[in-house]
Amino acid sequence: MAETIPDLRDVPRARAYTELKGHADAILEGVDDEITGMATIAALVHHAFGYLWTGFYRVVVPGQLLRVGPYQGSLGCLDIAFGQGVCGSAAAGMKAVIVPDVDKFPGHISCDARSRSEIVVPVTNARGDLIAVFDVDSDRLDAFKPVDQQGLEMLLSWFATIRK
Ligand code: SME
Repeated sequence: MAETIPDLRDVPRARAYTELKGHADAILEGVDDEITGMATIAALVHHAFGYLWTGFYRVVVPGQLLRVGPYQGSLGCLDIAFGQGVCGSAAAGMKAVIVPDVDKFPGHISCDARSRSEIVVPVTNARGDLIAVFDVDSDRLDAFKPVDQQGLEMLLSWFATIRK
C-alpha cells in the first residue's frame, strides 16, 4: 500500500476534495465491501483535514435506527434514532445538514464537548437506499460550507458504484 494521507488543511477546499477522491479511488479500486469503503473514507477525511470526529452511522433498522462505525476520533454515541440529533435528522430527511454552531441546533447530541460545528451527509447505495450517514465534527465554529457538502457527496458517491 503506497498511499499516505496528505495534509490538506491549507489547500483550497474544492481542490482538496478532488485530491482526496483520487486517493480514495486508487485505494478502493476493485473493492466491493461497504465497511472497507467507510473505514478508508473516514480515515482520509479525518486526517487530511484534522477534524475532531469523522465517521459513519450505519442504518441498522431502515427508517428507525442508526449505529456507529467505522469512525476516527474520540468515542461516538453508539445508537441514534431516525429524527434524533443532526445525524437522525439527516437520515430522516435524506438530506445533508450543515450546523455552523452545535449549541444552536435543537436536539444536537453531544458526544464530545469540544465539538463546535458539524456536517452530516446521507450515504446511498446503487439502488438509492440510505445505507448510512457520514458525520464530521470540528472544534471550530462554522467549519463547514456548501463546498464541503459537495466534496463529501463526491467522495461518498463511491457507495453507489459498488455492486453487492
Ligand atoms: N452530534 C451528532 C451525534 C454524533 S457525534 O457527534 C459523533 C448528532 O447530533 O447527531
